[in-house]
Amino acid sequence: MNNLVLHKSSINKAKRASLKQQKPCVIWLTGLSGSGKSTIANALEVELFKLNYHTYLLDGDNVRLGLNKDLDFSDKSRKENIRRIAELAKLFVDSGIIVISAFISPFRSDRRLARELVEEDEFIEVFVDTSLDECERRDPKGLYKKARSGQISNFTGISSAYEKPLNAQIHLNNESNSVQTNVAIILDFLKHKGYLK
Ligand code: ADX
Repeated sequence: MNNLVLHKSSINKAKRASLKQQKPCVIWLTGLSGSGKSTIANALEVELFKLNYHTYLLDGDNVRLGLNKDLDFSDKSRKENIRRIAELAKLFVDSGIIVISAFISPFRSDRRLARELVEEDEFIEVFVDTSLDECERRDPKGLYKKARSGQISNFTGISSAYEKPLNAQIHLNNESNSVQTNVAIILDFLKHKGYLK
């Protein structure tokens, strides 16, 4: 394709992962804006760091301020947003890192694409389930208010779709559970499935 040839490097994913003594993977958080993805992702990274794992956190607002600052919130741009992040996550996994990603990633087809870019057991989908009513009640950035008054268009849950995961590996109720409980649920999953020593 386009006269491009994929080069194989002598130092591969397995070697880099064994240097770090960890199993690289993507912990992919999905959920509405304000559902608590970033808070859980951040708290999870702190715990993994304490346990000596090498992680990297990819977060919606941060990536959209840099790499993806050319993208808006149309369906097409969201698709491109997730495509780039998925490719980025794949590179991080290849480098031996445990990636935690926190993006609304509202469309199932885009989350599937992200999953398909890595090995089957390298992708852990986590549904941060907080109802629209509760996200709107919390409204930490005041965006729901703006979306309701028409100041923001294409807002997820209001004027743009959110397709709930049908078979996420982990389903977190982030209304009744505390952040610490939800982080513990993820850590338990990682331990039982052999991602952590
Ligand atoms: S995604 O849909 O493309 O996955 P992403 O996670 O990168 O979204 O960015 C979501 C963040 O952008 C939200 O948490 C919110 O702070 C901000 N934002 C600004 N406009 C919108 C909008 N129209 N819909 C959703 N989020 C928006």
